[in-house]
Amino acid sequence: MPPPHFASLPVVPRWKSLRNSITLAANPIPVLNNYLDTYGDTIVVYLGGIRRTVLTRDPGLVQHVLQKNHRNYPKSDLSHGIARYLGHGLLTSEGSYWLQQRRLIQPGFHRQRISSLVTLMQAEINDCLEPLEREAAKQGGAVEVAVHELMTTTAFRIIARSVFSNSLAEAQLQRMAELLTAIQAFYVRTVRQPYLRPWQHARGQFRRHDHLAAELRDIVRQYIRQRQQSSGPAPDDLLQMLLDARYEDNGEPMTEEQVLDEAAIILVAGHETSANALSWLWYLLAQHPEVVAKLRAEMDQVLGDRPATFADLPGLGYSLQVIQETMRLYPPAWILDRVAAADDSYNGLALPKGTLISGYLYGIHHSAKLWDEPEAFRPERFGPDQLRQQAPYAYIPFGGGPRLCIGNQFALTEMQLVLLEMLRRFEVERIEQPPVDLMPLITLRPRQEIRVRFRRRKA
Ligand code: HEM
Repeated sequence: MPPPHFASLPVVPRWKSLRNSITLAANPIPVLNNYLDTYGDTIVVYLGGIRRTVLTRDPGLVQHVLQKNHRNYPKSDLSHGIARYLGHGLLTSEGSYWLQQRRLIQPGFHRQRISSLVTLMQAEINDCLEPLEREAAKQGGAVEVAVHELMTTTAFRIIARSVFSNSLAEAQLQRMAELLTAIQAFYVRTVRQPYLRPWQHARGQFRRHDHLAAELRDIVRQYIRQRQQSSGPAPDDLLQMLLDARYEDNGEPMTEEQVLDEAAIILVAGHETSANALSWLWYLLAQHPEVVAKLRAEMDQVLGDRPATFADLPGLGYSLQVIQETMRLYPPAWILDRVAAADDSYNGLALPKGTLISGYLYGIHHSAKLWDEPEAFRPERFGPDQLRQQAPYAYIPFGGGPRLCIGNQFALTEMQLVLLEMLRRFEVERIEQPPVDLMPLITLRPRQEIRVRFRRRKA
């Protein structure tokens, strides 16, 4: 029997992809789910009706690409394209340069280092929650909150402070957030609707966004220089970690441009993802008082009424399970792209050189083959015994293999701290609203604002 080959994969007809390209641009997830349900777990589709990609929710194939044969699968131009605006940091570099940078930066994200960032994180969480408490007090004890807006601000401030400590001026913090949002939104449009590119060129949109990116780099550069010129004790933040890092072979530091690239990438990779996960977290908790009650019971037992410290977090396992389950239902990085550098095969499926592969994390996390009642919110799935029974790569919110998210411990710590501190101060109350839709850009955002009422627990 001849081996099955790439051509034997079910192909979503091109006319169908083209016909759906507008719907796909607005929200690809229902369209892709429908294709996979109709044609199988690994299929060929045309992105925007143009780019041919293998789309898969087979965890085995995703593990093959991200881990087992990762050397053959660099990221594709879909990921690399953002380097035009953000430079060649960890997220956007490849090969030996990526490896050298990863080895250099990895120690900065070890548990020990993160524990020293916790004070910065907590100060920022405090700053974000105090106005909310004041507002609630003014309004008779409870305040209606635009959750995605609040979590986006909170996560951005946490990452910005973790990088720059208090050296960052408020106005520039705001401007950086605006620039990053504008650049990312434009980049997604260029990828999702490639047929608009000539028009975008003609309208000068590429040039305009190059200018915005240059402005962002100027802001970051200014802080790097300021830091290098300042005397006195160096702050214990991520910028200092980048400046202090030395290459093993020659003992040299990074150049200013390299530090700039890495700092910019950390800012981007480190805020929208966590902001989205936290937004969906409150969306789910507002609908699940029984989960909030369990969280409270755990907090009462471990913390009483005091704020959590870094050392408490391992003892607050249920709060971590709630975050894990949120990221199963709403994986912030919902799709990952790779391209075959040379001919390869997986389980008899030939993957010729140049094949674009889209690992569909959202599809894996919602697969009925891998998860019992996949649409149900059940943090108990992540109990220590249950998790061991899961198939490899059935749960990969942080990716896998050597390019696993470097910030995963940072993100989990940050999210646990936000969750615990908000629950310590507030009761969570649901506000009736129609179901919130998905808006999958680079990360999985809520399309409509999530509204939740937070009621102060202490008078
Ligand atoms: C809930 C929060 C987060 C999620 C879901 C997430 C998810 C991911 C995923 C899936 C990847 C791998 C991408 C790929 O293989 O194509 C990744 C890479 C990366 N993430 Fe995160 N991330 C989160 C938070 C963070 C934070 C807080 C930081 C920084 C402080 C960060 C920094 C990075 C960097 C630098 C990379 C590139 C690593 C490399 O290629 O060596 N992430 N992230």
